[in-house]
Amino acid sequence: MQATSLLKIGTFALCVGLFGCERGVSFAGDVQPILLASCVSCHSKSGEGYAASGFSLEDYDGVMKGTKFGAVVVPNSSISSNLYRVIANKTDPAIQMPPQHETSLAEGRGYSLSEKQIEMIAAWIDQGAKNN
Ligand code: HEC
Repeated sequence: MQATSLLKIGTFALCVGLFGCERGVSFAGDVQPILLASCVSCHSKSGEGYAASGFSLEDYDGVMKGTKFGAVVVPNSSISSNLYRVIANKTDPAIQMPPQHETSLAEGRGYSLSEKQIEMIAAWIDQGAKNN
């Protein structure tokens, strides 16, 4: 009994400051609003990102389907997921997302996601990339 309580306190202490440890990250509630605000202008059926990569970020199915070359989300492994790598600057700057070329910056859609948003998406992937 006492050991269990100590374990709970330990787990709680470890989790403070980490997303999705106390509660699971929700696709609809946490992840999708970020994608809608920062990605869908280009990654919807009529957007330039979709035209270039075949990647639609409009809904869960589109996110899981990935680009014309294949999936960009590997459930439970954010570091293996291109979706995470392009937003966390872990790829060639040329394919960083959102793209930071002059046109996108001028239109106000080229700014990197915040650290919190990036962590949120990583946590969602690491929790299994569920449609929740
Ligand atoms: C200003 C338009 C624009 C915005 C905004 C944008 N993208 Fe893109 N995205 C593109 C284009 C264009 C490509 C095709 C690759 C290239 O030529 O850069 C692409 C490609 C991608 C790819 C495929 C990369 C690869 O080669 O494997 C991913 C993943 C991606 N975008 C994710 C995102 C995410 C996530 C967001 C939001 C944080 C986002 N994009 C926002 C235009 C955009």
